[in-house]
Amino acid sequence: MAGGSGTRLWPLSRAGYPKQFLVLNGNTSLFQQAADRLATLGAEDIAVKPPIVVGNEEHRFMVLDQLREQRLSPSAVVLEPVGRNTAPAITLAALQALEGGEDPVLVVTPADQTVTDGPAFTAALQDAVRQAKDGAIVILGITPDRPETGYGYIRAGAEGTGLRVEAFVEKPDAATAQKYLDQGGYYWNSGMFVLRASVWLKALQQFRPDIDQATRVAFGGKAVDGPFVRPAKEAFAAVPSESIDYAVMERCPGSPVALRMVPLDAGWNDLGAWEAVWQVAEKDAAGNASRGDAIIADSRNTLVHATSRLVSAVGLDNVVVVETPDAVLVADRSKSQDVKKIVSQLTAAQ
Ligand code: GDD
Ligand code: MG
Repeated sequence: MAGGSGTRLWPLSRAGYPKQFLVLNGNTSLFQQAADRLATLGAEDIAVKPPIVVGNEEHRFMVLDQLREQRLSPSAVVLEPVGRNTAPAITLAALQALEGGEDPVLVVTPADQTVTDGPAFTAALQDAVRQAKDGAIVILGITPDRPETGYGYIRAGAEGTGLRVEAFVEKPDAATAQKYLDQGGYYWNSGMFVLRASVWLKALQQFRPDIDQATRVAFGGKAVDGPFVRPAKEAFAAVPSESIDYAVMERCPGSPVALRMVPLDAGWNDLGAWEAVWQVAEKDAAGNASRGDAIIADSRNTLVHATSRLVSAVGLDNVVVVETPDAVLVADRSKSQDVKKIVSQLTAAQ
């Protein structure tokens, strides 16, 4: 899933070049890292096919170029004329996967995350794939360390040798998130889902037949051009916009749909905002991180990201500075979630 907009990483993340395609850590983009991780899932009982990418029409060449750099080629790039959030995106991927005449297990992954422990990631995902072969929906859960409100929360209990999801709450408010942390037994939703294509379509039919129906109409009218698959434009624009989390996951517990969880302890991080970019960055002894042409003196816990000029910082504490040719952000590091307020003001002014 590579069609999000990543507004909290403005001014680097823009509509034409959103965060999943940016190099924010290491040498490759978040999208490239996600594709590389999927390529590691093969085993004697698991054959990995090239990825199906679902993204925005505008980014089609970026998708192909970035995959080529990793020596990967997609089995298809499904292009959305407009974003309708993740439930329709996954539905397009499921319909595309079924075109091959089989009902494969899909490893659905966001393209905006980092993982530091590759082997632990591979082992957890392989476990999830094996459980999904029996028809379960499997989600990957992260042990939480703070009452983050930007994530889904999962309560899981033992069932046989694995874990059953007893509750799923998408983006709770701060008080509720704190309550879950105090109570214990809760995990964050990593945003990765492992399930057979037919299992997804059946669950969606049950909970959101409107999304299922409208997406099928759009996919039915598709045009295929090499690797590119384009659903019918107007029909896709008419699909209700909803995330997988609200459309299906929240409704699974208590229903006949088998929802399981595999814990993922692999140094997972969602690079949602500049705070998280600072968290995963390499830092000097005073906690400063920089990228590009930057000089930092007498500062602490500061992030400087320069793209087109020399940027220097003196005497800063917990500040984020992001420089691009046409816009510069200076923000308190703890307020980095609020960057989306700037983007709303900019969009409103346009
Ligand atoms: N193709 C496509 N089309 N992809 C999309 C669209 C869309 O309309 N909207 C979002 N995506 C992609 C994003 O690029 C990202 O890779 C992924 O889908 C998830 O979307 P986000 O918008 O980043 O979701 P989120 O971070 O708010 O929440 C999700 O991820 C959290 C973990 O990072 C949820 O699943 C939460 O429950 C979860 O905790
Ligand atoms: Mg995200």
